[in-house]
Amino acid sequence: MLVNLNSILPKARRGKYAVGAFNINNLEIAQAIIDAAVELKSPVILQTSEGAINYAGMDYLAMIAHVAAESSNVPVVFHLDHGKNYDLVMTAINSGLYSSVMYDGSHHPLKENIKLTKQIVKAAHKKEMTVEAELGRIFGKEDNVSVEEKEVAFTDPREAAEFVEETGCDALAVSIGTAHGANKFKRKPKLDIKRLEAIKKKVKVPLVLHGASAVSKIALTRLHKQCKRMKDCGRLEDAIGVPDGQTKKAIAAGISKINVDTDLRIAFTVAVRETLLNDHNVFDPRKIIGPARDLMTKTVKDKMKLLGCAGKG
Ligand code: G3H
Ligand code: 13P
Ligand code: ZN
Repeated sequence: MLVNLNSILPKARRGKYAVGAFNINNLEIAQAIIDAAVELKSPVILQTSEGAINYAGMDYLAMIAHVAAESSNVPVVFHLDHGKNYDLVMTAINSGLYSSVMYDGSHHPLKENIKLTKQIVKAAHKKEMTVEAELGRIFGKEDNVSVEEKEVAFTDPREAAEFVEETGCDALAVSIGTAHGANKFKRKPKLDIKRLEAIKKKVKVPLVLHGASAVSKIALTRLHKQCKRMKDCGRLEDAIGVPDGQTKKAIAAGISKINVDTDLRIAFTVAVRETLLNDHNVFDPRKIIGPARDLMTKTVKDKMKLLGCAGKG
């Protein structure tokens, strides 16, 4: 069933677990996520970035998400991820296709971020959509979400309290050391858990962790085994994600929504490479993408068990 963030995140905050928010770009990714959620009876968030909308179209992705939500017996949020462009977020709200949106005004100075987020909240709440906002700047580079190292800013607990109070947003994304993409850390990964605890004390709405993929060594080994067979690509060999232990600490300290995209991208690529390298005669898209869907389902299930949301739907 289609719900908004308020149906699932306050419960997660009280129960000290987090709900996974997974990025979708096509049918198979959405199916993989929903299959995992149904199997584990978990609430789930399907989200589309601006890049995903440019790639597949808002209407197509919305229809896939709606069918997924209506055909499953678990709570499903359809959420706009990283709406950096004010007009795009308003378009998403007015379309009535989403049950929730993120307005990411983190590139604006505080006052401007507050002003624009407040307007978005007003428009979204009229349609019973929830709003996630962002304060602080999270490192990393993807298609449409990009912050250079010198632009990174960790979230200030006092500013966060003021921001939430003024804007009326339903959830707040915080910057505490995670990063978007596969290359999150140069050295040993360490999140600023003390800062997170301070934010949680001051802020009453659920907190969101972006850039939370684990980039597991097991997945990377499997990926690069195939690269070696192709005699090419060591691109992700040294990539470092958020270790499961750090994710657990972040949840214990107050994170209620965890965003994951990179781990699904890696799972998809591992399975497609294996299929194409193991069977040089295959040319049926279902036989190429099917195994990728299965591996993504397994990846999502493992993640849901880690986050503690399995059984909470
Ligand atoms: O946080 C960003 C998401 O992983 C989406 O990335 O802009 O490449 O679709 P994208
Ligand atoms: P990852 O790149 O760590 O998967 O983060 C995704 C994300 O934050 C989407 O908003
Ligand atoms: Zn993000």
